[in-house]
This record gives sequence, C-alpha cells and structure tokens, in this order.
Amino acid sequence: MKKILSCLKPYRRAAILAVCFMVLDVLAEVIQPTLMADIIGQGIQSGDVGYIVRTGLLMILVAAIGLLSGFGNAKYSAKAGVGFAANLRDRLFRKVQTFSFRNIDSFSTASLSIRLTNDVTQMQNLATMGMRMMIRAPLMLPFALVMAIRINSSLALILGVSVPVLLVLLTLLVRRAMPMFEKMQRSVDRLNRTVQENVTNMRVVKSFVREEHEKRKFAEASDGQMNTAMRAMYAVIVNMPLMMLVMNCTIVAVVFFGGRQIIGNTLTVAEMTKFINYIMQILMSLMMLAMMFILLTRASASYRRIREVLDTESDMQDAEGARKAQGLRGRVEFRDVSFHYHAEDDGDPVLSHVSFTAEPGEVVAIIGGTGAGKSSMVQLIPRLYDVTQGAVLLDGVDVREYHLASLHDEVAMVLQKNTLFSGTIRDNLRWGNQDATDEQIYAAAKAAQAHDFIMSFPKGYDTWIEQGGVNVSGGQKQRLCIARALLKAPKVLILDDSTSAVDTATEQRLRESFRNELAGTTIFLIAQRISSVQDADKIVVMDDGSIVGIGRHDELLASCEAYQEIYASQQGEEASA
Ligand SMILES: Nc1ncnc2c1ncn2[C@@H]1O[C@H](COP(=O)(O)OP(=O)(O)OP(=O)(O)O)[C@@H](O)[C@H]1O
Ligand SMILES: [Mg+2]
Repeated sequence: MKKILSCLKPYRRAAILAVCFMVLDVLAEVIQPTLMADIIGQGIQSGDVGYIVRTGLLMILVAAIGLLSGFGNAKYSAKAGVGFAANLRDRLFRKVQTFSFRNIDSFSTASLSIRLTNDVTQMQNLATMGMRMMIRAPLMLPFALVMAIRINSSLALILGVSVPVLLVLLTLLVRRAMPMFEKMQRSVDRLNRTVQENVTNMRVVKSFVREEHEKRKFAEASDGQMNTAMRAMYAVIVNMPLMMLVMNCTIVAVVFFGGRQIIGNTLTVAEMTKFINYIMQILMSLMMLAMMFILLTRASASYRRIREVLDTESDMQDAEGARKAQGLRGRVEFRDVSFHYHAEDDGDPVLSHVSFTAEPGEVVAIIGGTGAGKSSMVQLIPRLYDVTQGAVLLDGVDVREYHLASLHDEVAMVLQKNTLFSGTIRDNLRWGNQDATDEQIYAAAKAAQAHDFIMSFPKGYDTWIEQGGVNVSGGQKQRLCIARALLKAPKVLILDDSTSAVDTATEQRLRESFRNELAGTTIFLIAQRISSVQDADKIVVMDDGSIVGIGRHDELLASCEAYQEIYASQQGEEASA
C-alpha cells in the first residue's frame, strides 16, 4: 500500500487542493436549504421583498462558490489521479525492466502489459473518484444529520427507520454485486488477453487461416464479458427503484408527521422544506457510499495485481561482493550442469550433467534435434537463467559471481527468437553500444554481412524499421541482430540459430568474417545444418538434454552415431534438392 500511495506524493498539493475544494462544495450545498428556508420563513411570510432579494442573491453567491469548488475539485482530482497513474505506471515499468526471464515466464508478457495499462487505469479511476465521492459522502452525511436533528429531533426519528432499511438494502446490493464485479473483472482480463495475443500475432493467425477460430474465441470471451457485466449492472439497477421507494416513503412520512406538527403549530413550513432537503442529502450520501464500495471492489482486483508485480523481486540479483567482468579471455566451462526451467519441477531436467570447455577464441558449434536443449544450454552463459546444479564458469569464475550488467557487456547473445525495435537501422544497431561511431557501426554491419543490403535501401542506415522488424526479410533481420551484438565487442558471442534464414553463400562469408574479425572472441554457434558447423573448432552434439558427442567434424563422423545420422539425413536432402 505504501509503495502505491507514494506514487501520489508529487501530486500531494493537487490532492490536498482537491479535498479542500470538495469541503467547500459540501459546505455550499448544506447551507443552501437553510437559506431557502429563510426566504420562505422570514421573507415570504413577512412580505419583506428586500430580504427575499438579499437572501436570493446570497443563495446565488453560495451556489457560485459551490460550482467553482466543484470545478476546482474536478480539475485537481483529475490532475492528481492522472499524475498518480503516470507515476504508478512508470514504477511498474521500471520494475518489469528488472525482471529475469524466469519472472517474465511466470507472469506472461500479455498479463504484464495488461497490468501496466488496464489495471493502472482502474487505480486512476479509484483515485480520482476517491477524491470526490469518498470525501463528499462521509462529509455530507454528518453535516446534514446534525442539521436535521437540530431542526426537529422528533421528526428526525423517522430516519431511525429509513436509514436502517436503506443500509440493509445497500448491504444486500454490495454483497450481491461484489462477486459479480469480481467476476466481471476476470472476464475483462480474459478478453484483454485474447485481444493482446491475437493482435500481436495477427500475421501468424492469418497465415494459419485461423481467423474463424480466433473470431469464435474472441466472440466467446466478448459474450462472456458482456453477460457478466450485464448481470452486475442488473443487480445494481434493480436496487435503484427500491432505494428510491425508501426515499420517497421517507419523504411521505416526513410530510405526514410534519404536517400534523405544522397544524399543531410546533413546526413551520419553512422548517419542513429545510428538513426534507437535508433528509435527501443524507439518503443520497448513503447511496454514494454504496457506489464507492462497488468501485473499491473493482479496483481491489487491480490493486492486487499491481502489488504482485511491485512485490516480485527479480530472482536474478547481483551476488554480494560481485566482481566486474572485465579484461576476460573468454574461456567458458560447463561443469556438470543440470537445469530445470522451474525450480520446483522434479520431472526430467532440460539439461543433465553437461560438461565441456570452450577455450578462448574457439568457435564451438552446437547441433542436435529440436528440443534437445541447445538454446537452454547457451542461455546459462549470460545468466538469462541460472543453473539448477553444477556451474558455468567464465575464465574460471562462476558466472553468478559477476555483476550482471558487466557480464552482459562481455557476453553478447543473438537470441533464437530475436526482434528489432521501431526506429532507424542505426538506432537499432546502437543498442549494442550507445556511443558507437558511424565507422564502428559500418564495421559491425560489414562483419555481419549486412552493410551491402543496408546500403541498397534508399535511406541506407536511416531506413525506418517497423515494430518487430517486419519490413526487413528474415535473413536481413538476422544479420542486423548479429551486427547489433557485434557492436558490443564481446568476449563471448552466442549465435542461437542466427543464420537459419541466411543463404548458404552469405553464411559462408559470415563465418569467414568471424574468423578474421573476431579472432579473439569465443563463439558459440547453434545451427541445424552440418554445413554451418563443419569447420568449427569443436562441435557439441546434443540429444535430449545431454551431450552425446564432442569433437571436430571428421572425428564425429567417425565416432558419433547421432552426428552420422544428422549427416546422412542432410546428405539425402541435398541430393534430392
Ligand atoms: N521458457 C521455457 N519454459 C519452460 N520450458 C522451456 C522453456 N524454453 C524451452 N523449454 C523446454 O526445454 C526443452 C529444451 O528446449 P530448447 O529451447 O533448449 O531446445 P533447442 O535445442 O534450442 O530446440 P530448437 O532447435 O527447436 O531451438 C524443450 O523441451 C522445451 O519445451
Ligand atoms: Mg533453440
């Protein structure tokens, strides 16, 4: 709660102003019935026109003050609410940036983005409304109550009946509507998730001709959301006439008993008018309170979900006394490494007892069937995930003992599912190094065999890349991602299936340029094709989470059955192609 409330801090002034204006607004409103009664009681009865005009003008003045205060409150509560939401969103965003891959896996990206948008909006509504209704109702209630009792305490006894009845009705309403609104919130979530997943992956949906299926899925989510929303609204609406009935009965009772008092000369018409006005204010405040409860329920789900994000600590922290990864040689050792994606998972590990060493400057190729654990293995080097057992050592030091940021500077990884961001090619490449000069950028692009095709674009390095890099080809995108990683001038470079979409001739040139330009860099190269790996210094063959062979191409061909199989299957492909 503290964490979330502190987001309101910079807007404390606006919040306080909003509250002050609301107090003024309420005061103006509770004074009005008294002034009105004065006009009736003193002005009309005595026929004093001057008094009527004076009091009338005073009423207009009070009304104007009320109106201006209302504006003031609306302005400042909106300002504080919007500012609060912006701060909260910013805080959430920063938090999510610290998350490890494992944290992101556990929340899912769709859920995180809904929390950052929709849930924050809910909190914003609560804050804004809170500064209006939540102050107005509790303030107006006692004021009006005191006034009513002061006018005529015996008549005020009627409230002793109608308020409890109204309270019972409101409690029933809140109890009935709360679970419905909770359900509604969940269905909104489901709807959001469907939209999010679908719009992000529109291209995939289209290419699989899944539009009909997805439309149906969306319609289900949408109908579900509509039905729950309707039921919730219905519960609220059905209660409205009931409450109006209670209010009207109260007024009838006041007129009935008050009328007898007027006849008996213990009450004036003016007092009764005033009294009815205050009674209305009391009952209205109660209804406003009920609405607040419902709003609170709706926001509390969002509050919980936001807190979950804020309370999650990244499970990838710098160790105490962590050292800076600097001046490394680039020797990587896997020492009896086993790995599970989920710590609590006790099924088959994704990697079991993997041991091997990559010497500085070596090119280590990794090959193996899909799902063999190749990506999982190399992700352990820059600590995208931590090992479950054993250790990964960089220059003889456990990677967990390095500062994460400095480790990431030394170990560059081109992920299998890589992406570019909206911006120019130059901007995208600069991700590798903020301060890169144009010469450095060109050199990296040349080494990644990207310079030529970039220059063939009319705008060259200033070509705009759309979100996700959809306006460059798969092979071009891969080479841009490689260039981006090269700009880091890393000691260890990991290419996870990064040339799968590049033609063989270009791939050949890419490998040659790595040999010449990156002589001192240890390179891990995951590939599917034997032709991509055969001139590596060391080839690691993986199967089902284990290493089944290590050696050079000819050694493996002679001794490793799995490698022979891959080789044979690809020879066949080439022959038939
Ligand atoms: N984020 C994840 N959470 C849980 N399990 C995962 C995750 N990523 C991969 N796995 C599982 O780990 C196993 C190994 O996957 P991995 O991605 O390492 O295979 P791979 O050898 O890189 O395959 P490919 O050649 O298809 O890229 C698979 O069974 C996969 O289902
Ligand atoms: Mg993979």
